[in-house]
Amino acid sequence: MLEIKDLSYEYKGGFKALSDVTIKIGDNESVGLIGANGAGKSTLFKALTGLIDFEGEITVDGLISDKKNIAQIRKKIGYVVQESEDQMFMPKVIDDVMFGLLNYGTSREEAVRISDEILERLGLSYLRDRYNHTLSGGEIKMAAIATILALKPDIVLFDEPTSSLDPHNRRMIINTLNSIKSTKIVASHDLDLVYDTCDRIILMNGGRVVKVGGRDEILKDEKLLTDNMLELPLRFQK
Ligand SMILES: Nc1ncnc2c1ncn2[C@@H]1O[C@H](COP(=O)(O)OP(=O)(O)OP(=O)(O)O)[C@@H](O)[C@H]1O
Ligand SMILES: [Mg+2]
Repeated sequence: MLEIKDLSYEYKGGFKALSDVTIKIGDNESVGLIGANGAGKSTLFKALTGLIDFEGEITVDGLISDKKNIAQIRKKIGYVVQESEDQMFMPKVIDDVMFGLLNYGTSREEAVRISDEILERLGLSYLRDRYNHTLSGGEIKMAAIATILALKPDIVLFDEPTSSLDPHNRRMIINTLNSIKSTKIVASHDLDLVYDTCDRIILMNGGRVVKVGGRDEILKDEKLLTDNMLELPLRFQK
């Protein structure tokens, strides 16, 4: 589904945020992307969605990521960005949830139906007609997740999906992640969430992949985690 080969990226000013990243992710896999602040997680997501001009090769569902294919690739990938406010640009929640669907040619009636369905599934019907700029941090995060899931993308990238969520909504997101069949990459510092939703883990540090392995292999290895400025998931802490 997703192949990343020798991916490197340097921000303007010369900071190298990604170095020789090579990863393969299969259909319907759930992969956790972990690493300290600045490890390169969000930059990797930006490369996958063609938002930055990287070096190396990315192939999505057989399509090489280049100028010619990027529009098609973006249709396959849903990206829940780290700063949810940046993702919402319409006046009301329902407008934002419907926006992508209408943009892809879904009829208005169908877009309303799908949008109401996803809002209900996430327990967000009460936000349907609220103005985005009046929502709390957690409410806007949930609404931003709804706008992406409404599109049923083949691959979903979640960048800190549960930051600012209360325990109820955090649990809602964990259950939702586990119920969707898409290929998922979840970048998070909430390693308990990562443990609950991902089978395989990619550990990054300083723009490089340090280790890829099964969730138990990585998330129970205290030394590996502390060496990379992380900690064991809470449930494994004594
Ligand atoms: N626009 C930018 N210009 C220059 N450097 C940047 C820019 N954006 C990010 N960086 C740097 O690139 C590195 C990787 O950043 P990135 O946002 O990918 O990290 P991250 O793993 O997502 O971290 P976090 O856990 O804090 O979200 C950081 O050192 C960051 O300072
Ligand atoms: Mg980030």
